[in-house]
Amino acid sequence: KTSVAVLVSGGGSNMVALVDSMLQDGAHPGHPCLVLSNNADAGGLAKAAERGIATAVVDHRPFGPDRAAFEAELIKPILDAGAEVVCLAGFMRVLTAGFVSQFEGRMLNIHPSLLPKYKGLHTHARALEAGDAKHGCSVHEVTPLLDDGPVLGQAEVPILPGDTPDQLASRVLVQEHRLYPLVLSRFLRGERAPVYLD
Ligand code: GAR
Repeated sequence: KTSVAVLVSGGGSNMVALVDSMLQDGAHPGHPCLVLSNNADAGGLAKAAERGIATAVVDHRPFGPDRAAFEAELIKPILDAGAEVVCLAGFMRVLTAGFVSQFEGRMLNIHPSLLPKYKGLHTHARALEAGDAKHGCSVHEVTPLLDDGPVLGQAEVPILPGDTPDQLASRVLVQEHRLYPLVLSRFLRGERAPVYLD
């Protein structure tokens, strides 16, 4: 099986969807080897530990603006765990080209928009503000450019009259939990053609 590290900053619901998909399917091509966070209080850490998965924390704060120094520490538990593929799952630190290049073609991210729309933050509010009829999420290969890189899958949701950003985010999150495990299993089997869910 391919060893997969999952990086989280917060609640880790996408991480749970990913690791449970691996743990519950004996034929899955992946195995979760590490859940790593930049926040010691990330809820995802406890959820990983409950599942018997190794966890680690590398706090970005002591490094201030020195992203390279943070990343030099961040990479250590990933390499120590023998990770071959890295999944960013609500990991809210921008990674430099130096870090990304170490996992070129082996790092995935989930982003809460229909890329290439709404890279960056506040995607739900921006989709509402634009008056879009639909919104969704994307899983893509990570390249040095933020929220760029080949799209491996997307799932759509309708935008409903009166939606708030939080209501829309909840609707998108349900789809994230379907999309990311599906894309990861396909990716680990060598499939790169994008998959579209609705
Ligand atoms: C998810 O909606 C994910 O798409 C988003 O953060 C949330 C994390 O939730 N990621 C980004 O915005 C990346 N820039 P989770 O911790 O429950 O998986």
